[in-house]
Parts: sequence; structure tokens; C-alpha cells
Amino acid sequence: MKFSQIAKMLAKNRTGVDAINTVGDAREISRRKLPKMVWDFIDGGADGELAIAANRRSLNEIKLRPKFLTDVSNRDISAKIFGQKADLPFILSPSGMATIAHPQGELAVAKAADRAGAIFCVSTASGYTLEEIASVSNGRLWFQLYLWGNEEVVNSLIDRAGNSGYEALVVTVDVPVVGKRERDLANGMSLPVRIRPKNALNTLRKPKWLLGLLNGPDITFANLAGFAAGDDASSIGEYTDRELVDQTRTWDDLELIRKRWSGPLLVKGVMTPEDAISAVDAGADGVIVSNHGGRQMSFVPGVASIFESVVHAVGHRAEVFLDGGIRRGEDIIKARAIGATAACGGRPWYWGLAAGGEQGVEKVLSVLAADVDRTLALLGEEKFSNVTEHYLYR
Ligand SMILES: Cc1cc2nc3c(=O)[nH]c(=O)nc-3n(C[C@H](O)[C@H](O)[C@H](O)COP(=O)(O)O)c2cc1C
Repeated sequence: MKFSQIAKMLAKNRTGVDAINTVGDAREISRRKLPKMVWDFIDGGADGELAIAANRRSLNEIKLRPKFLTDVSNRDISAKIFGQKADLPFILSPSGMATIAHPQGELAVAKAADRAGAIFCVSTASGYTLEEIASVSNGRLWFQLYLWGNEEVVNSLIDRAGNSGYEALVVTVDVPVVGKRERDLANGMSLPVRIRPKNALNTLRKPKWLLGLLNGPDITFANLAGFAAGDDASSIGEYTDRELVDQTRTWDDLELIRKRWSGPLLVKGVMTPEDAISAVDAGADGVIVSNHGGRQMSFVPGVASIFESVVHAVGHRAEVFLDGGIRRGEDIIKARAIGATAACGGRPWYWGLAAGGEQGVEKVLSVLAADVDRTLALLGEEKFSNVTEHYLYR
């Protein structure tokens, strides 16, 4: 075997952070490091997973118009989000139980996001408490709220987020029930995580992950300690449906939250102009167009394909964000070109975390930043904030 072949083989098997040149690399490394049930929990979606593919397709269909021989020597990829500068126009979407990917979980993510100048939106279902996460970051943090059944718990989460310095509150509205995650059902993925006969063999093959699990914090919804204790539900979805979800919630509840929260309020999970209008009428300052990364339903279109209809409906009254399917910097520029203040994503940072902890997340964010910067130069534009629909081929 020639040296170059051996080098190629070794490069292929590299699992360190320096092997991450794309979000896809982080995904593949995390596939090698995580038990199948955990990798599938992150990667998978609802039902036939058509919405995951639709998110990618809708971004792929957008084509950008480059212009050349303009001076692009002074580039600036930052965005203004609710009046303040964000160095990276990518928001780390709320994604629960990050301790399942790495024992440092959200603590690692918060530190990496802070260093990258990106906003991290912490999930209600985080593996560390919102206070613990805030204590390790000087960066911009948002808090995502599920409108779960216990009013006292919901109100106390809002107050805790305010007291801990979270800047914005993001209310996720697309979980009246948890989507049917077929991979989780097949794998016996549960909360608390249990090694069962059908996932034992594969899980034992990942001793490093197991060691992390044994030495790390309990994998649970840390913010709800004492309220949502683990049990023997056969899937995370079933557990959440039974213990937490409240199907009686309406836009009136958002108005009550508006009264309780004085900072920027966003609604996440909007997929129609009508719901965007309801959100803004109820007092939202921002709308996140999202199908939950295809994790709730399979029957909806890709977010980028319906995004402009939402911007048209509320863009003059609220900031609008695109969430789902972002895998490269060019996707962030595309989001901007169709009217987004910035783009958001969950799996990219989650895979980075699984692949290399804090450094893994940092590497993914730096790859996205470099992609955005290069794409700007190739488009003949110096400022991310100047990207408009004029950069679209219609
Ligand atoms: C493992 C995982 C857990 C998630 N947990 C939450 C959550 O707790 N709250 C929420 O609003 N969205 C949650 N999401 C959805 C993300 O916020 C985001 O909408 C989605 O990941 C976007 O798609 P992308 O992964 O293609 O970027 C989760 C996503 C993943 C992958």
C-alpha cells in the first residue's frame, strides 16, 4: 500500500475536531461516536421524514446571483438582531437534552457560542439548568419555553429566565402532541435513557460515550427537577405527551406571557402567514418560521419555500427568522436573501457537540462563519446586512 493511500485512509478515519470541514463531517463523526439510538434521536424526524428532506430541498432550490469586480476587501458578516450586533448571523436553535451527546452538554454549547458571537437559545428541556448555563456565558442567550401543563412551572421558568439575564423568550408552539419519531420507537429510545435488549449491543460498542454517561449528570430535564421526574415510558414522545404537553393552549396564552415578559418575545414553529399574524397581534416581536427540523410532522413544506409568504405578512412588524436545514454558510445567505434577519439551526451544533464537545461546536460555528464570509465575497457583497432579494435569481 502506498503512503498516500495510507494517509488517505487515516484521514478518512479521523474523528478529531480538525477533521470537521463541513457540518456533514460533524454529522459523520458523531455517527461514529454515538450509540445508534442516540444518533437517530438527533438525526431523525417524524413519520416518513419528508419534512427533513423538504427543508434541504427548499434551500437547494434557491439560486444566488454573483457579481464581480466590486471591492469586497472589507467584509462584515454580522447581523443586527433586536437592535444589537451578533457577530455570526446564525442562532443556535433550542434543542433539548444536549447532555445525551456530551456530558458537558449546554455548558459547552454556551461557551462555544459566546466565543463565536452567536446567540444560543436554551431549551426548556436542557440537560443543565438555565441558571447553570447562564453562569458560564457572557454571550447573548435566549430561552425557549414550552407551554406545558403546569402554570406555576411555566411562570416560574419565565421569571427564572428573566432573573438570569436571558435576553429574549422564544415560545415554541408546534408541539400540541409530540411527533411520531419512528426511529426512536424502533430503537427503544426513552427518558431516562435505558439500555434495553434491543439497543444494548450497539450501545456497549461505544464505551467512551457510556463512560461519559456514567460520569456525567443524569440525563433529564434539569429545569423541571422535582416536577418531571423520569419514568418507564417506552419513548420520549410518550413521556412528554403524558407528563408535559397541554393541548388547551391558545393565542390568548401568548398574550398573558407578553404581559409577564418585558424583553423581546418570539414565536417558534410558525408555518403560515395566518399564524405569524396571530403571533404578532398577540405581542410577539419575532417569528421563527420552522417545522421543528421535521421532527413534528412530515406533511409540511420546506421552510424556505413558504418563508417569503410569512415575511410578506409580518416582516414590517416583526423580525423573521428561518429555522431548519441550514448546513452551510450559503444557506444562511440564502435565508437572508429571502428576508430573514438571521438563520437558526439545531442539528449542526448538536453534531458538533457529539463530535468534539465545546471544540466541536466551536469548529462547526467557525466553518459556518468562514462559509458566510466566502459566499459574500463570491457574491460581490461586503456586508451580510446588505444582502437582499436582489441577490436572488428569480
Ligand atoms: C435533538 C433535538 C432536540 C430538539 N429539542 C427542541 C426543543 O427542546 N425545543 C424546541 O423548540 N425545538 C427543539 N428542536 C428543534 C430545533 O429547535 C430546530 O427547530 C431544528 O433542529 C431545526 O432543524 P435543523 O436541525 O435542520 O437545524 C430539537 C431539535 C433536535 C435535533
